[in-house]
Amino acid sequence: MFEKLDIFVAASIFAGDFSKLGEEAEMIEKSGADAIHIDIMDGHFVPNLTLGPKAVMAINKSTDLFLDVHMMTYNSFELIEDFVKAGADRISIHFESTENLEEMLQYIRKCNIEAGLAFSPETSFEFIPKFLTMIDYILIMTVNPGFCGQQFLSKTLDKIAYTRSYCDKFNIQRFNKQNGKKEPFLIGVDGGIDNRTALECVRAGANFLVSGSYLFNNQEGCMKDKVSFLHNIGE
Ligand code: DX5
Ligand code: ZN
Repeated sequence: MFEKLDIFVAASIFAGDFSKLGEEAEMIEKSGADAIHIDIMDGHFVPNLTLGPKAVMAINKSTDLFLDVHMMTYNSFELIEDFVKAGADRISIHFESTENLEEMLQYIRKCNIEAGLAFSPETSFEFIPKFLTMIDYILIMTVNPGFCGQQFLSKTLDKIAYTRSYCDKFNIQRFNKQNGKKEPFLIGVDGGIDNRTALECVRAGANFLVSGSYLFNNQEGCMKDKVSFLHNIGE
């Protein structure tokens, strides 16, 4: 049965205007979003390049929002410390990016920030359970990583549903350090998330929605209204 969870919303700044990152960060904060999602791409793990620690530091100076750093990079180990210093509140690494996943996830947690693990669409759901107790957040990619503005892949819905039912079955929860409480595990989705696809993801069990193009495209309404719509989706 579909149980309505609290929904968190992160705006992916990759879809914003890079010539005014600080202003974009302020706009995201004013919109009521819970986090700024920052895509880090190295031109190898994905065929695109984006931002580094210096830009994350600049974003951090413009906002008090939670910074959700999504690393689509090889050799992420060497970069973690720099992103922590730059103000990351969570770093998600990709399952497909390294053979030292456990070591890296432990290291991220040791830095006193949240550790996330991202799974690309082609990666089988079977690899997920082993990691759920080592992470604070799972990010299920709903497009192939690398670009914003892509079409949502509905084949990923099964992976979301599998993860939520596994967490429910084995009582895997998230420990919220801020309020000291246990809460439903955080299942994030990223790529092609709009008012329609968000509902499908939430119905499948997602409770953290990352959205770029939909939130930044102001032809269909302002970011604030869309964030509020996503917060209440499925009600
Ligand atoms: C894709 C990125 C996403 C992207 C989302 O590789 O990880 O975070 O910026 O943008 P939209 O919502 O436009 O797909
Ligand atoms: Zn992302």
